Amino acid sequence: MALVIAIDGPAAAGKGTLSRRIAEEYGFHHLDTGLTYRATAKALLDARLPLDDEEVAEKTAREVELAGLDRSVLSAHEIGEAASKIAVMPAVRRALVEAQRAFSRKEPGTVLDGRDIGTVVCPDAAVKLYVTASPEVRARRRYDEIVAGGGSADYDAIFEDVKRRDERDMGRTDSPLRPAEDAHLLDTSEMSIEAAFQAAKMLIDAAL
Ligand code: C5P
Repeated sequence: MALVIAIDGPAAAGKGTLSRRIAEEYGFHHLDTGLTYRATAKALLDARLPLDDEEVAEKTAREVELAGLDRSVLSAHEIGEAASKIAVMPAVRRALVEAQRAFSRKEPGTVLDGRDIGTVVCPDAAVKLYVTASPEVRARRRYDEIVAGGGSADYDAIFEDVKRRDERDMGRTDSPLRPAEDAHLLDTSEMSIEAAFQAAKMLIDAAL
């Protein structure tokens, strides 16, 4: 049976980089489940379909191909906003969770990262990590990323955005963001990505 590593946490906590490094280390397949919500949102926006029609959004979610999802074409701010809006719809979540579960069964193992992997998508995962950092640190990292990429950014606007996204993700009724009871908490506020990876590796090695 495929081994599953579940990684959850709020936006910009460092889950993405950490998950990719872990998948590489163990030779596992990786799925960033946020991209499945983003790809659904982008398909709706591109087709100028409404974002508040659950049936239309579900149908679009069922057409999303997991192979070849690419964050660089899904990173736009309005796609993230639309993704977090459609992510409150139970029918959309059911459709995407089915596809995510099918992915999680790939041999020899998988790393899935998102908001509800340890609680809903893969409750039997071999290892569960809940990766967080303070909203200030997460906003700062996002700001630095944009500036390093040559863009211009407004720290206060990013900070407000991080807080708004947290509220939406933690406050929704279906699959709210929270640590699974058996998740290991990893607060990366004062850790480099390398230190976070080493900490995660120790937890994973101890559990496998
Ligand atoms: O991780 P990312 O910020 O790209 O995800 C976009 C949105 O998709 C999140 O704000 C969240 O609302 C939603 N999402 C979710 N469940 C997941 C992954 C992402 O609800 N497992």
